[in-house]
Amino acid sequence: MRRESRSVMIKTMTQNEAIERAKEHFGKLLEEQLARVERMKAGEDWLNFDQLHPIIVGFVDGDGIGPYITKEARRVLERLLKEEMASGKVEFRDIAGLTIEERAAALKALPQDALSALRKCHVILKGPLTTPKKGDPWPNLESANVSMRRELDLFANVRPVKVPSEGIDWVFYRENTEGAYILGSKGVNVTPDLAVDFKVITTQGAERIVRLAFEFARKNGILRVSAVTKANVIKTTDGKFLEMARSVAKEYPEISFDDWFVDIMAAKLVDTKRRKDFRVIVLPNLYGDILTDEAAEFQGGVGTAGSANIGKRYAMFEAIHGSAPRMVVDGRAQFADPSSMMRASVMLLRHIGFGEKAARLEMALDICGQFEKKLVITGRADGATGQQFADYVMETMNAPDLSSRHQAYLGKGI
Ligand code: IPM
Ligand code: MG
Repeated sequence: MRRESRSVMIKTMTQNEAIERAKEHFGKLLEEQLARVERMKAGEDWLNFDQLHPIIVGFVDGDGIGPYITKEARRVLERLLKEEMASGKVEFRDIAGLTIEERAAALKALPQDALSALRKCHVILKGPLTTPKKGDPWPNLESANVSMRRELDLFANVRPVKVPSEGIDWVFYRENTEGAYILGSKGVNVTPDLAVDFKVITTQGAERIVRLAFEFARKNGILRVSAVTKANVIKTTDGKFLEMARSVAKEYPEISFDDWFVDIMAAKLVDTKRRKDFRVIVLPNLYGDILTDEAAEFQGGVGTAGSANIGKRYAMFEAIHGSAPRMVVDGRAQFADPSSMMRASVMLLRHIGFGEKAARLEMALDICGQFEKKLVITGRADGATGQQFADYVMETMNAPDLSSRHQAYLGKGI
């Protein structure tokens, strides 16, 4: 046999082997996903908080600035839920074992003990957790956030963004357990030259997020829902998401439905003439990740935005931003803005049935962060500390004229 043809043969064999290995890997992923579809089909009921005693709220401090801002949000919640905690209706619990050092030592995105502790809670308030990436000093583990969302089946990532002075009142419903994320750490290097990742959308997964978005709109008298995809290019998965959105929309005839591609939507969010017309926006995981950071910027930055991760059995509330390790290194952690965690606490309170307390905290946050601004957080020593800001929020929240002051600011369109 001639030399070149032998080398071609060897190359082909190793190539075939590489393809076989990748196919086997892909086959396993498909089996897992089909099992997940069956679990979604079986479904489970929504937890009824009225019937729970106690409602257990778990706290995860997080990494970097996490412990600083979580502590302030917890103080506010303790104040608001004082009576319920005294009567035993609400119980607070610390969840240990989730710092990046602990996850790295366990070589697990979610160490088993921490996961079991999370599963004993009903809702969780979570500070930002560091997500390792290639080249970091940590093992390149899966994101603990992504893992938690998947393990607790927190399929809806709800992210409100409000700028009253500009008429912006958006609520993003980001799909949280599928899309480009669910197999984000299960891609395959087929050969040293060929890397492949996978994106997943299921009928059940798309339907449940779209339905939740429409239900929210209906309950709140909102008359427009917009879906965002890139279905013109990512035809199969985004195509399915869009198809499901169109089909669910037919069940809500009083709500107008439209769909946008993610690139033009990113542009429309900065279009001051058109952007206030958007209300509820439902979208697959990665597009939701990107657009919600963009949207939060109009409200005063990611430090001001909270986020709810909702599933039928569990729910987890968090900031939309990361752990900002640089602030800690620079000795500025005490100047980090706790508003994101307090906005997350508003959503937590509403979720567990304390709507009136949630509204009070929300009004106080609007007044302190957007209208009155007696104290301003800059993230540096020229601004207020998180602790001072939380005191300011609590004082505002407990003032007897809270609601009328809030109304007056809104009326002025400040
Ligand atoms: C978010 C964050 C996370 C995400 C990261 C930390 C994995 O950016 O909650 O938006 O991409 O979902
Ligand atoms: Mg993000």
